[in-house]
Formats: sequence, structure tokens, C-alpha cells
Amino acid sequence: HTIDMNLGQIEKCGYPHFMLKEIFEQPECLKNCMRGRINADVDKVTLSAVIDYKERLLAAKRIIIVACGTSWHAGLIGKQLIETFCRIPVDVEYASEFRYRNPVVTKDDLVIAMSQSGETADTLAAIELAKRSGALIYGICNAVGSSIPRATDTGSYIHVGPEIGVASTKAFTGQVIVLVMLSLALAKEKGTIDDQTYNDVVKELSLIPDKMKEVLEQNDKIADLSRIFTYAHNVIYLGRGYSYPVALEGALKLKEISYIHAEGYPAAEMKHGPIALVDSDMPVVVIATHNAMYEKVLSNIQEIKARKGRVIALVTKGDETISRIADEVIELPKTLECLEPLLATIPLQLLAYHIAVCKDKNVDQPRNLAKSVTVE
Ligand code: G6P
Repeated sequence: HTIDMNLGQIEKCGYPHFMLKEIFEQPECLKNCMRGRINADVDKVTLSAVIDYKERLLAAKRIIIVACGTSWHAGLIGKQLIETFCRIPVDVEYASEFRYRNPVVTKDDLVIAMSQSGETADTLAAIELAKRSGALIYGICNAVGSSIPRATDTGSYIHVGPEIGVASTKAFTGQVIVLVMLSLALAKEKGTIDDQTYNDVVKELSLIPDKMKEVLEQNDKIADLSRIFTYAHNVIYLGRGYSYPVALEGALKLKEISYIHAEGYPAAEMKHGPIALVDSDMPVVVIATHNAMYEKVLSNIQEIKARKGRVIALVTKGDETISRIADEVIELPKTLECLEPLLATIPLQLLAYHIAVCKDKNVDQPRNLAKSVTVE
């Protein structure tokens, strides 16, 4: 027997594009990322960097996360995780801005550099600058042995395997998982997290890959829905709290590969500008899961509907209220609020992917973009 496939097709494992393959790989990748680090039987997170650099990590008075693009969005989620669990102030900086601003950095700071490729020139330069102030540098990268991990004092690889599609997908969820593990491990050492919360998050983390698979099962539905929205010239993405960076990331995915203009916004900021754009042509993607902000996001959806906007809502499974008002609904399994980004990101990746495919765009290699930006 012979197999009638070329090398490219074999590498894509039967998927039409690397991006779709990488989206579908996420449950497996996250297991690889957590392997040996999460032990749900005894409710424990172990990161070797936190053991090796314990004293200096505990002494950090402030954390600065430096990154670009999708990695910067993961950093914003990291800020909320670390501030919530570890009670250390966190700044999230675009590496390109940080490196030229003469920023205040001291030896009491911890700088976390996040990068999928480990080669982004601005992030590397930000590290070199921070090093001169004596700050401890912690890398969160995917490409093993790349320039950024080599320039750092310590760090944690995300271990999601090579990412080929220019639009980052599995690296983002991998970065978020590492940030969850880091914030838990640090919080435990600092004593800023109670045992119940720590155990609950560890247990729930180990359930995330299966919940992600449930979300991926809606791929056909999302593909159908995408056909409706190919007409759009502008799309708004809204979310609050942990979902705000997810809204930014959803909008970035859409603009990168479909060339539709998209903006991510914190849902409540809508009234300070973006609502002026809403009319019957305007699709608005709202992350409206059942958490502490639910009622507030619900009223944002009502405001959009009152102006005839077309709402695509991401809701928690079983939600009936929003299902009645929204034009389209995508259901997500219930999880802890701090882990919602891991699930809510998936439909937004798929939505961008299918819209780009419908528009016949080059999904894996969008125009003008590079996978790693090694020059300024
Ligand atoms: C490029 C890529 C993005 C990526 C960004 C940061 O713009 O196209 O997908 O998010 O660089 O890359 P890094 O490798 O540092 O995460």
C-alpha cells in the first residue's frame, strides 16, 4: 500500500492548516505542559524554578511582565492571577515601550519575559535592560534553547511543541497554564492563598483538557456561524476581569488572519466610545460567562441589542437568560473564573479561523506578519 500525501499534508496530520491542527492540539499540549508539575492526587504544583529561586522570588516587591503580541495578552491574565493569589503588584509592559522608556527597575523586582519563539528582539532587549538593574529575570517561553531562555536567570518552558501557524494559539493557552501554576506555587510559598482555594484550582486545572475538548466539539457549529459574519468590516470583542485579555486576544486573532478590523475592549468601557459604532451591521462578541460580573455584562448586552447590534455571546452551559437575547450563543463548560480564559479563547480562535477560511485568506501565513520578529 502507498499513501498519497505530500510532506506538508503529513505534517498537518490531516488538518487543512497548521492553525486548525494547533487549535485542536491544545488539550494534549496542556497535559504536556502540566506533566510532572501538577499532581492532582496530592493537590500540589511543583515548578523547579520556584524551588531553585525561592528566596529571591519571595523577596520580589514587584513583578514586571514584558512581552509582545499574544504573549502580552497572556501577561495581562498573569497580572490578575499573580495579584489575586500572591498579592504582589504586577505591571504588564509592551517590551518595545519598556526598553526605550528608561523605566524604574530595581534589584527587588522580578521581571517575567514571555515569548513563544524566544527570539523577539524587543523582548530580548527589555531583558538586557532589566538585567542592568539587578532584577531577577524569569522566562516563560516555548522554543527550548532559544535566545530569551538563554538570557534569563531561570524560568519555565511551556512545552506545547512547535507552533507553525503565524497566529499564536496553543502557545497562548500554554502560557496561561504556566502563569496559573507559577501564581499558585508562589502564593503557597508566600502563604497568601488558603488551602481550599489552592486545592480547588489545582483540581480544576487537571480537568481543563477534557473541558477544552467539549468546547472543540462545537467546531462545526462555529464554522456555520462564521459564514454569517464574513460580511463584517468591524467587530467588537468585549469581556471583563479575566475575560478582558481574552477579548483582546480574540480581536487580534480576527485581524491577523481575516483582515477584518476588530477591537477588544473591557465591556464597561463600551459606553465611553465603542457603543457609538454599534448598529445593525455590527457584530459584537461578548464573553458573558456565569461569574461575579455576569449581571453587569448582561446589561452591556442589553445596551447593544437596544442599538440593534448582533451579539455573539460566550455563555456558561445552561444559561437561558442570555441565550434568549443574543443572536448567537456558544456554550462553555463551567469552570473557576480564573481558568475561564483557557476555555473562552478556543471559540474565538475557531471563529477567526473559519471566517478567514471563508474569505479564502492564507490562514497559516497572513500577509505582512512574521512568526518571530527578530528585528525592530
Ligand atoms: C509576532 C507573532 C505573534 C506573537 C508575537 C510575539 O507578532 O506573529 O503571534 O504573539 O510576535 O512573539 P513571541 O514569540 O515573543 O511570543
